[in-house]
Amino acid sequence: MMLQIWVVQALVVFLTTECIGQLVELCGVISPESPVIRSGSNFTAFCVLKEKCMSVYDVNASYIIWKTDHVQVPKEQYTIINTTTSSVTFTNIGLLNVQLMCNILAYGQMEMSVYGIRVRTGFPPEKPKNLTCIVNEGKKMLCQWDPGRETHLETNYTLKSEWATEKFKDCKAKPDSPGSCLVEYAPVYFVNIEVWVEAQNALGKVQSDPLNFDPIDKVKPSPPRNLSVSNSEELSSVLKLTWLNPSATNVMRLKYDIQYKTKDASAWSQIPPEDTATTRTSFTVQDLKPFTEYVFRIRCMKEDGKGFWSDWSKYASGTTYEANEPNRSKHITRTAGGKLSADGRLPLLTE
Ligand SMILES: *[C@@H]1O[C@H](CO)[C@@H](O)[C@H](O)[C@H]1NC(C)=O
Ligand SMILES: *[C@@H]1O[C@H](CO)[C@@H](O)[C@H](O)[C@H]1NC(C)=O
Ligand SMILES: *[C@@H]1O[C@H](CO)[C@@H](O)[C@H](O)[C@H]1NC(C)=O
Ligand SMILES: *[C@@H]1O[C@H](CO)[C@@H](O)[C@H](O)[C@H]1NC(C)=O
Ligand SMILES: *[C@@H]1O[C@H](CO)[C@@H](O)[C@H](O)[C@H]1NC(C)=O
Ligand SMILES: *[C@@H]1O[C@H](CO)[C@@H](O)[C@H](O)[C@H]1NC(C)=O
Ligand SMILES: *[C@@H]1O[C@H](CO)[C@@H](O)[C@H](O)[C@H]1NC(C)=O
Repeated sequence: MMLQIWVVQALVVFLTTECIGQLVELCGVISPESPVIRSGSNFTAFCVLKEKCMSVYDVNASYIIWKTDHVQVPKEQYTIINTTTSSVTFTNIGLLNVQLMCNILAYGQMEMSVYGIRVRTGFPPEKPKNLTCIVNEGKKMLCQWDPGRETHLETNYTLKSEWATEKFKDCKAKPDSPGSCLVEYAPVYFVNIEVWVEAQNALGKVQSDPLNFDPIDKVKPSPPRNLSVSNSEELSSVLKLTWLNPSATNVMRLKYDIQYKTKDASAWSQIPPEDTATTRTSFTVQDLKPFTEYVFRIRCMKEDGKGFWSDWSKYASGTTYEANEPNRSKHITRTAGGKLSADGRLPLLTE
């Protein structure tokens, strides 16, 4: 009897260090082994004792104690099925991730762990919605979508794409950004591709609606560069803008959005879009106030309006000439070619 108690104590020491899973001698098992439960449903687990264990420790299924994260489950949730098997049922299970243990009361007094499993709950993925793709000029294509409700489970979002008969490599979204993926292949223009998102976890698998497009229609060009402003001695009401187009002009025609305001104004005015609806590298802004500093910015997009506006260019500013009063010009010193100095101010010298 003394010897037997010593053995049990040694076992208990071992069991408390080896909390989950196998015992010295496997005394029983829980099924299912690694359940993933849909939140809101019912779940039943079974603990089946081995005959040998039952005789060594003098127990049967009535001696089983269920615990979740070390807290005893109320006896009302147990069912003794037969001499070897006890089940425990959880109804309308919430969102949880717990350790479920099957313990026995050895010799009617010594609690010992028999087996442990991890119970995880969550939701199947929802159908991904709002799939959109954007080709930032000079970069890879980025597709984004709304992954829907949080699943609380490991869920893989994979962007699939195919072109004619060829399939492109899958694009797997990173776990910390389940709603986007940067594809690895360079976009091929003037050929339609089809993309869709597949969402999968332990509770289900679902696909988004497919999106079919020519990548040229999803381009966001780089903004126009080197925007500069020059004034006109003859016309105090105009300023001429010049810029360099992004290299997207190699594959598409552009339209522009030009905005301007006086230096201290907060609201921007817009050049009528129809005046800047084709590829160009300069534009003369008219009807400005004389001797006034204006700030300009410009952005561009594909001429037919498909795709995305570029970011805004850097600001550039310039000052209109004074009104054309007689002899005014002789008081003004211009920089070469009528260009303004770097800050856009007109150097004014009086004799
Ligand atoms: C869960 O069990 C409860 C009680 O037995 C029952 O009323 C309910 O319909 C069950 N729910 C599901 C989703 O099976
Ligand atoms: C006890 O019930 C379990 C589950 O229904 C079954 O697998 C097992 O064979 C039964 N054992 C005995 C001894 O009846
Ligand atoms: C378990 O054993 C006890 C006696 O120790 C007995 O009264 C009980 O009916 C047994 N239960 C089952 C389910 O075999
Ligand atoms: C994307 O989602 C928003 C709401 O979040 C909705 O208003 C919009 O219509 C959706 N766009 C598409 C293309 O489905
Ligand atoms: C998710 O993807 C990884 C890597 O491809 C895979 O090991 C894992 O089983 C997948 N998980 C699900 C729930 O599909
Ligand atoms: C455009 O601006 C960059 C830097 O501001 C300069 O290096 C480059 O020479 C400019 N290009 C032209 C054509 O003016
Ligand atoms: C303007 O300058 C011209 C010569 O450059 C001179 O003849 C004329 O009187 C000047 N007029 C005024 C209003 O100063």
